[in-house]
Amino acid sequence: MKELKGKVAVITGGAGGIGKAMGERFLGEGMKVVLSDLNAENLQSAVNELRPLGEVIGVPADVSQLESVESLRDAVLNEFGKVHVVCNNAGVASGAHGKLWEHEINDWRFAFSVHVYGVINGINAFVPTLLAQGEEAHIVNTSSNNGGFSPIAMSPTYATCKAAVVTLSECLWGQLHDVDPNIGVSVLFPTGKTKGVLNTGIWAAAERPAGYEPDAPIDHTHKMAGWMASMEQAGTPMAVTPLSEVADTVVDGLYANRFWMVEEGRFEEAVQERTNIILQRANPDYKR
Ligand SMILES: NC(=O)c1ccc[n+]([C@@H]2O[C@H](COP(=O)([O-])OP(=O)(O)OC[C@H]3O[C@@H](n4cnc5c(N)ncnc54)[C@H](O)[C@@H]3O)[C@@H](O)[C@H]2O)c1
Repeated sequence: MKELKGKVAVITGGAGGIGKAMGERFLGEGMKVVLSDLNAENLQSAVNELRPLGEVIGVPADVSQLESVESLRDAVLNEFGKVHVVCNNAGVASGAHGKLWEHEINDWRFAFSVHVYGVINGINAFVPTLLAQGEEAHIVNTSSNNGGFSPIAMSPTYATCKAAVVTLSECLWGQLHDVDPNIGVSVLFPTGKTKGVLNTGIWAAAERPAGYEPDAPIDHTHKMAGWMASMEQAGTPMAVTPLSEVADTVVDGLYANRFWMVEEGRFEEAVQERTNIILQRANPDYKR
């Protein structure tokens, strides 16, 4: 994007964490911002918090439902008339536990409904509008190093979904580039200049909506809070990446029209290791 000022951004999963940080940063660039989230209460708080910074509204939507994302698109157009930056960012920890072959089928269905269908629904709902507008625009899909570059074997639902987000984004870039190179595509691997953990809501397993109920009870404790407290007690506090730095990565990437939105020097060993393993026909025994 040559210019962000005055442009309209919509962010799913925008009520907290990385999504809200992107919204704050976009407002700093003079953009008009639509935060969207399934959690209407948190969404309202986020909008109230960001309102002093610029033009921001909140539109509740469930990314797992195409009709809901289409309604979001209509609400954005109704309010601002246009849309330029679409961040398909909503995510969940599915709460799947045990070994992959012990996962309940609803663990998979729930994870895919948000991470994979959420991105597909965002693409289906918004890309035709972006094409029809005939203006510079950009889609940012949030993946993760976990699955996006190489999987952590202990988190199969999450890693598999995030691998799918990379492939979806690569295909989208390939097709859009031919049809309208004014519409950029990026895949975001949340990172910042400061190496550390991203302390967001994703570290607590999400409440399951109707239709995705688990058979066995799910532990909803915030895992990162527990790990951070233990490390603090042990006198070796964990380094934390400020979420504003993730938003900086996104804004830099938008101006540079960069497909791979990841800070330089982050996860490069993981990418190299996986590439070497594939080329050597070795086993996927990743060092992490
Ligand atoms: N935090 C990390 O370490 C990390 C690392 C890599 C990638 N990510 C990804 O970043 C993205 C943002 O997550 P976060 O870390 O800010 O976590 P978060 O939990 O703080 O934010 C995710 C938001 O998505 C919303 N959401 C969940 N299901 C939804 C649905 N069906 N429809 C609409 N909104 C829904 C939640 O209510 C929440 O506000 C996710 O895609 C996540 O997988 C996070």
